[in-house]
Amino acid sequence: MKALVLAGGKGTRLRPLTHTSAKQLVPVANKPVLYYGLEAIRDAGIISVGIIIGDTGAEVRAAVGDGSRFGLHVTYIPQEAPLGLAHCVLIARDFLADEPFVMYLGDNFLIGGIADLVDAFRMAHYDAQILLTKVTEPQFYGVAELGPEGKILRLEEKPECPRSDLAIVGVYTFSPAIHQAVRAITPSARGELEITDAIKWLIDNGFSVHSHFVTGYWKDTGRLEDMLECNRIVLEMIAPGVRGMVDTRSEVTGNVIIEAGASVERSVIRGPAVIGAGTKVSSSYVGPYTSIAENCLLQDAEVEYAIVLKGSTIKGVSRLTYSLIGRNVEVTRAEGVPNTHQLMLGDHSKVQVRA
Ligand code: TTP
Repeated sequence: MKALVLAGGKGTRLRPLTHTSAKQLVPVANKPVLYYGLEAIRDAGIISVGIIIGDTGAEVRAAVGDGSRFGLHVTYIPQEAPLGLAHCVLIARDFLADEPFVMYLGDNFLIGGIADLVDAFRMAHYDAQILLTKVTEPQFYGVAELGPEGKILRLEEKPECPRSDLAIVGVYTFSPAIHQAVRAITPSARGELEITDAIKWLIDNGFSVHSHFVTGYWKDTGRLEDMLECNRIVLEMIAPGVRGMVDTRSEVTGNVIIEAGASVERSVIRGPAVIGAGTKVSSSYVGPYTSIAENCLLQDAEVEYAIVLKGSTIKGVSRLTYSLIGRNVEVTRAEGVPNTHQLMLGDHSKVQVRA
């Protein structure tokens, strides 16, 4: 069995980060989202992984390499444009050959792994198996209607009047029958080859399409609030470890990881939180559910419920919360008069200031 991981796409909902960076590489507890997926695939006993890449392909290649450090063998499959999830299957035809495979959306976050999904598929020989979870607002998701014994009767993309509260999660397993399906469908109104259309084609043509339920936590990390929530969930589970330097005037409470090479002076760190290697925290407060990546500087600053990517500086600012700060960003205090906010923001940035 092989795996196909989708790490291309537009990432419009995480702009401006995704103007320069792959959304699948945004870190959760200082580890890229994509790594969690690759580890889940490996833990399900799959070694051969094809990764679909788009405009941010160079960065994904640099981060994942040949996959050996995950115990995987990775093949990259460039996609000329984000033409849809089913288009990814179409262009991966040679890589997938005639093997069954698991398709994993690289921005999806799943706790509990996919081993039981993959095992169920291996035992049952279905043509497709889709992962489902109950949600409170099914109208924002692909929604499945189930028949007896978990058979999928119908799929609808973002229905106005959902027939169930069962949303499709971004992990699927397919037999080679899916190749016929992706060749048979045509682009949707938004110009994409939709995987839901391909699965509907399988159902309509008598192939066996079954459901499997998510046992643990699942999130599609497309938006800021999803990233922050995943970060919170993972930080709640971390084992504390102080490997960096903490001076005697600092206070570190709760589950906190301070990586080797990080330093904390005259500061309060209230976990769960993680401080990356080479980061300096000085006269600052880091509150719960905060991940600060490597080589950042926090000075006279307060940060809480936030993700800060590598190389960023936050100086003289209190208190930043509910925030996602990109790489090499500077957030500093404006001095002197007039009393103004001074901003230089990339396209599609979002800033909320207390006037
Ligand atoms: P989506 O989140 O559906 O799409 P997107 O990345 O374009 O994001 P946004 O809606 O914010 O613009 O994609 C799910 C995953 O599949 C994600 O990891 C990107 C990847 N993908 C591809 O690799 N190729 C594609 O053609 C599409 C549509 C998505």
